[in-house]
Amino acid sequence: MRILLGVSGGIAAYKVAIVLRQLREQGHRVRVIPTDAALEFVGRATWEALSGEVVTTTVFEGTEQVDHVRLGREADLMVVAPATADLLSRAATGRADDLLTTTLLTVTCPVLLAPAMHTEMWAHPATRANVATLRERGVHVLDPAVGRLTGADSGAGRMPEPEEIVAAALALRKRAAGEGATGSDVPSGTGSLHGRTVAVSAGGTREALDPVRFLGNRSSGRQGVELARVAAQRGATVHLAAANVDSALLPDGVTVHPVESTAELQATMTALAADADVLVMAAAVADFRPAQSAGTKTKKRADGSVAPIELVQNPDILAGLVAARRPAQVIVGFAAETGDEHGSVLEHGRAKARRKGADLLAVNAVGQDAGFGDVPNAVHLLDSAGEQVGAASGTKHEVAEGIWDAVGTLLSERSTTGRGHAAAPRTGTVGS
Ligand code: C5P
Repeated sequence: MRILLGVSGGIAAYKVAIVLRQLREQGHRVRVIPTDAALEFVGRATWEALSGEVVTTTVFEGTEQVDHVRLGREADLMVVAPATADLLSRAATGRADDLLTTTLLTVTCPVLLAPAMHTEMWAHPATRANVATLRERGVHVLDPAVGRLTGADSGAGRMPEPEEIVAAALALRKRAAGEGATGSDVPSGTGSLHGRTVAVSAGGTREALDPVRFLGNRSSGRQGVELARVAAQRGATVHLAAANVDSALLPDGVTVHPVESTAELQATMTALAADADVLVMAAAVADFRPAQSAGTKTKKRADGSVAPIELVQNPDILAGLVAARRPAQVIVGFAAETGDEHGSVLEHGRAKARRKGADLLAVNAVGQDAGFGDVPNAVHLLDSAGEQVGAASGTKHEVAEGIWDAVGTLLSERSTTGRGHAAAPRTGTVGS
């Protein structure tokens, strides 16, 4: 594949040498297009030596080949990392003041931007507007990671790790190629779910305190709904265990099982597991419930005192499904994580993937722009050993497509090798 790797002027440029190396090791031809500012961080010689190709920054070099047009026409994929606030601004407004921005105007291939900047710059309304504009145009803008920034400070704005950028970029290209090849809502090959039965949970469970009050969470159920919708579009028989999902969101063509509490969700998913080839636990399940639920509405006390609420732990439904699974059944879990001083989103996700034992754990960063509600999402797909086997980003529908691509690969590999869950294969990137 012919890949253009733009590099703009941020300190994270030094890590992009690893992105370049990984892409080259996978056999891709990579032309690096740095900005002049990027060369302040990592010199031309490094990019030329690692890529094996000439490196230029302006349209006044390589003029005999009209590089800015030729490069754009030949490219299968374009990645810009780090994408600084300045680069996002120039890309959003269509500036063409160096080779990188000019090429961004000539490419027709998928484009992935991996932003990196200080938290204040990422949060600034100007940057928010630029990111929204680019996403509306179909450019895939990753959310930056939360973690250590240039100096001692930390926050949202860290460039995603090189392997995450590589996985997201290759998954994007694969998805784009798949869409172009089939031109249909029902992709062929590993993407097809014809003849399969799947059960998806969505929404957030509610634990009753009394007949009118509950402990709940903010999950809208949109990601689970999109997973059910895409599975139905790909030909599966779909059961959706919907925990308090707004009925306007529910997709057509699936059997909906409304549930409210964790106990109801557990009973429903356990029953559906008997016939399902794939189980997806996308619901946000309450970890705790009140030890007692009052039969009548709890009244205020005359003396103004408030009774404490004693909580007990809920069962882990996903763990129960994993423990009881049938051979070749594929089980997918979700983990909403935030980075902190103990580790990045991915590090926390890896530990959870090993604990949970699902075939795939879709780890997403919550907070900033991603996660809850009608917002773009980005997930890392980890196997039960915590190894990253893919990534998916974009709208919740696009993320669902990426997850089903990865599940389709697992299903087809298991049906051809007869292997059960104990030997969950690596898939490289989503769907590959
Ligand atoms: O441990 P954590 O809540 O982050 O794990 C998230 C995953 O586990 C999700 O797939 C969620 O649906 C599932 N889960 C569950 N039962 C619980 C808690 C979470 O099935 N009690």
